[in-house]
Amino acid sequence: MKRSYLFLIIILLSVGRLFAQEWVVPVENAAKRSPFAFKDSIRQAGAALYMTNCKSCHGDPGKNNTVKLVPPPPDPASAQMQKNSDGDMFYKLSMGRGPMPSFKNTLSATDIWRIISFIRSFNDKYVQELAPSLAPGSTLEQVKILISMIKETNQVQVKISSVKDKVRQPVANAEVKLFAKRYFGNLMIDEAHTSDSQGIALFKFPANLPGDSKGFVQLLAKPTDETAFGEAKADTTLAIGVETYRPPLNEQRALWNVVQKTPIWLLLTFIFSVLAVWGLIVYVLLQVRAIYKSGSDNKKE
Ligand code: HEC
Repeated sequence: MKRSYLFLIIILLSVGRLFAQEWVVPVENAAKRSPFAFKDSIRQAGAALYMTNCKSCHGDPGKNNTVKLVPPPPDPASAQMQKNSDGDMFYKLSMGRGPMPSFKNTLSATDIWRIISFIRSFNDKYVQELAPSLAPGSTLEQVKILISMIKETNQVQVKISSVKDKVRQPVANAEVKLFAKRYFGNLMIDEAHTSDSQGIALFKFPANLPGDSKGFVQLLAKPTDETAFGEAKADTTLAIGVETYRPPLNEQRALWNVVQKTPIWLLLTFIFSVLAVWGLIVYVLLQVRAIYKSGSDNKKE
């Protein structure tokens, strides 16, 4: 009886390990492709980036000299690494897992693609698929982004299109981020979403996001991929926030405000200190005069 329990536990643990090792990439991320072709210059840039950011753990590609970690970092030339789709790799590099660091804040999307192009150079069966987003020759000015609100579902819709073969067409598979502008910097809304075949990405909008005094929120939508879209972005103000009255920073008495709006306690402390110092000076002068006077009185006597 005891033995069979032990057996069961061992089986459960090893099955658990198998599951734990599977690194599942969401379907929409796995389908992501590089917006630019992997050329020699790109691979060279990728090699340099690999040497500084990855070699310490993943070793020299093809040499199987990776660092001993659990789970082990695979050699870039190995089948385990190469069976990842470009999108899988992009996701895994961006997000990280366990000892594998997340590079989404340290490397730009372009740099991540450069590294992937270098890793692919160790696979002679690899044939690159490009992101279907922008047709060659279409200029960035032709990218149009529209932001609108779907009231019923409380979602913000971002629609991207560009001109391809002289016809305006939706841009599919473009990763987009949505931000609300705040006093200091931008607040990201929901996660990044990828546009569907209609060029549409939907974002959940928080019901309680404070807007201005009339509930207006300034929204900013931006594709994450700077290489393909450059600075393309859209700015729209929609009345979708909660009406919030925020007095301007210089309206009330505060330390950072002008002299006329100093805090009362500061004003009182200041006046009191000035009076105290002058009081002391006057007191000392009076005392000096008293000494002088009593001196001259003594002389007369
Ligand atoms: C601190 C050590 C470390 C560094 C630095 C590091 N990795 Fe990793 N990497 C790992 C480990 C450990 C794993 C296995 C993680 C797992 O399976 O949970 C891994 C897994 C991966 C995978 C997924 C492999 C698979 O099984 O599908 C990819 C792709 C990858 N690394 C690429 C890179 C690239 C490219 C860089 C440099 C930009 C990098 N790593 C930097 C340790 C590292």
